[in-house]
Amino acid sequence: MSCKETVRVLLVCLGNICRSPTAHGVLEHRLQEAGLDWVGVDSAGTAAYHLGKAPDARSTAAAAQRGVKLAHLRARQVVAADFDTFDLILAMDAQNLDDLREMAPSGCLASVRLFMDFAPDATVSEVPDPYYGGVSGFEQVLDLVEAASAGLVDQLHRGVWR
Ligand code: 4NP
Repeated sequence: MSCKETVRVLLVCLGNICRSPTAHGVLEHRLQEAGLDWVGVDSAGTAAYHLGKAPDARSTAAAAQRGVKLAHLRARQVVAADFDTFDLILAMDAQNLDDLREMAPSGCLASVRLFMDFAPDATVSEVPDPYYGGVSGFEQVLDLVEAASAGLVDQLHRGVWR
């Protein structure tokens, strides 16, 4: 991330190969469209199962259909330093949120929340894990991530994201 970034957002799921890289690609794309080049984005997993791997091919294919590229991303695990590097750490589901809160050093900088908090009109509050399901789960991830990204971009634009 570059030094002109004044707000840094970390998107987190379990494996960092399906939901959070999808959110990473979509949010970056929407920020670029909105001209918010002062917002930095990264993603990570709470687990170490897939370190160094590219996103799941099903996520990459579903995102590509919506004009979002994911193939350059590589999985990494959340580390303690992330809690002082990022302003916002956004969990895809409640288990990810619990795991993050358990890892968070006391007095850390980051605000740790659910990503879907930024889509208050959505019918769900979590992005469900699509890994063991079919193609429709990957489409649902994109729909939810698009909604939360739109809400977050709007709040960042208006300076009310805290
Ligand atoms: P993600 O999906 O947390 O959205 O990246 C998963 C990826 C891999 C596994 C579980 C969820 N896994 O058990 O390997």
